[in-house]
Amino acid sequence: MIKVTTYIFALILMTACAKTPQVEIPALIPIPVTLDAGDGSFELNSRTKIVINVDDPAQVKLAGYLNNELLSVLGYDLDVVGQVGKNTISLEAPSQESAQFSELSFQKNPESYQLDVEDLKIRVAATSSEGLFRGIQTLMQLIPLENNEKADKVLLPALHIEDYPRFAWRGLMLDVSRHFFTVEEVKSYIDQMAKYKFNIFHWHLTDDQGWRVEIKSLPKLTEVGAWRVPRTGQWWTYDPPAENEKATNGGYYTHEQIREVVQYAADRYIQVLPEIDVPGHSLSMIAAYPHLSSTELPYKVNPGSKFYTIEDNALNPAKEEVYEVMDKVFTEIAELFPFEYIHVGGDECYKGFWTKDKLCQDLMKKEGMSHVNELQSYFIKRMEKILQSKGKKLIGWDEILEGGLAPEANVMSWRGMKGGIKAAEMGHKVVMTPTTHCYLDLYQGDPQVEPDTYSMLRLRDVYRFEPVPEGIDEELILGGQGNLWTESVYTLGHAQYMTWPRGFALAEVLWSEKDDQDWEEFVGRMEEHFDRLDAVYVNYAVSVFDPIVGLKAQGTGLKAQEGSRLRAQVVMETELVGLDIFYSFDDSYPDEHYPVYTEPVLVPLGATVLRVVTYRDGKQMGKQMRLELSKLTF
Ligand code: ACM
Repeated sequence: MIKVTTYIFALILMTACAKTPQVEIPALIPIPVTLDAGDGSFELNSRTKIVINVDDPAQVKLAGYLNNELLSVLGYDLDVVGQVGKNTISLEAPSQESAQFSELSFQKNPESYQLDVEDLKIRVAATSSEGLFRGIQTLMQLIPLENNEKADKVLLPALHIEDYPRFAWRGLMLDVSRHFFTVEEVKSYIDQMAKYKFNIFHWHLTDDQGWRVEIKSLPKLTEVGAWRVPRTGQWWTYDPPAENEKATNGGYYTHEQIREVVQYAADRYIQVLPEIDVPGHSLSMIAAYPHLSSTELPYKVNPGSKFYTIEDNALNPAKEEVYEVMDKVFTEIAELFPFEYIHVGGDECYKGFWTKDKLCQDLMKKEGMSHVNELQSYFIKRMEKILQSKGKKLIGWDEILEGGLAPEANVMSWRGMKGGIKAAEMGHKVVMTPTTHCYLDLYQGDPQVEPDTYSMLRLRDVYRFEPVPEGIDEELILGGQGNLWTESVYTLGHAQYMTWPRGFALAEVLWSEKDDQDWEEFVGRMEEHFDRLDAVYVNYAVSVFDPIVGLKAQGTGLKAQEGSRLRAQVVMETELVGLDIFYSFDDSYPDEHYPVYTEPVLVPLGATVLRVVTYRDGKQMGKQMRLELSKLTF
């Protein structure tokens, strides 16, 4: 008897003292503001319960979201209850005794959250459901990936996180005009954004190549404007539509579908910013309603052939009927999109036809304008009035500064940071999205082995992005965003390839503290997140593993000579440390048995091609790259 009692006592003691196993903290992107590792781990299994305030509809939704995510990753369908106990994940308000930091950050930032993982329970705490949602994303990243389908339990590391974003505007833009993306594809894009704590989906809905949103009062916008002739190949080289060729490529979203996407995004605490790009980039609208342009000619929607300066793609700012049409468009847009901002484009407006138009010239005289840029400014100011009448704020590309900025306008700075700086100096709010750091349509590796586009933006340059220029009031910089223009992007898989991992870099730049941003450490975490993308069948680029290859003149005078590339030195480097580069000049496929690059190599006589590949610890990391020496640059 005594023996049994002693045994039971010993067992109780052992259980009380037993530590749950220590497990490694998985990589988190974006890196949280504070993370304190704890002892032990939480065992998540199919008996774990989600605890919420069951009277709060937002929390009921959050529990549904969390449960869905857990179901898809682990196959568990957890009970949702109202009472905290053992083996629970609870969504709560932050506790009073938490650090001083929290109180401040919670006040300042509705997206702040705390996450506690302990032996017996997990707690996500925030003052808003938005904060809880961001915390749930971090929690999901703590779930290990290995063998999840078969696991009857997974261990999450004990830790305490307090976290909040650096910027309130963390966006990605998707252009659905140049190539149309279905509702399901758009939702999938938004879903992935949510996982990395983006909170603005900028939907570029109209452009010269297609009008994508139903406007019930102007049915031709989609009957005509949503369709162009099909073309495949290199953008800007396509044949224009033939005489009787059918416009079969395109599509548009009905009001119902727009509402569905907006709700889908709202459930992920993402605001949808609609863009109606005017007065330029408006050929699809003009194809539907030719009287809105200066020439009034019957153009077709452009399939991606050269047309600038030949066809008139700008609304005529001197016509009153243009403003009547704009009012109709923005009435419906304002009803469809609850976000306080509407984007009116304003970029790259070709004004050549305005200079020849009598109405425009008369208006300029009447208003005392000396430059056509002032006509655009006049137009944008009237857009602002229209939007204000619908309770909305205007945002536009930085060209809206030209000719004078509208009084309350917000500026999206894309041609570098200077437009944003100028706007901020005048006290306007700014979103920074310079081509130099944020254009996701650009190459992310050597053009010879990347999908066709026109300029370069490597991952490390995205990670170097600093949205607040020196000397500018941080309060005026709302944040930043990545822009994916889709002239050369035909499919969702390609859109994903262009977005990730550069989207990881932007997510971290826009969320995490500047001092916590560390390139080498980031790329290590990035690799773990490639596995997460694999697990959900989302595409991404591994171009960051490829070498950067250039040429160096050998000796003096050679560079200038005809054919100098063929007697130059090849210079190679990598964006990441720890990669070995193997190469061949004989057009055979290099691997670890080939020469390893250590210093500039003289191009052998007769060689016209360089093949390179990178390895790390015996594993091929980069692509097999076949580079024509004649296309490399000094
Ligand atoms: C732009 O890239 N045209 C805003």
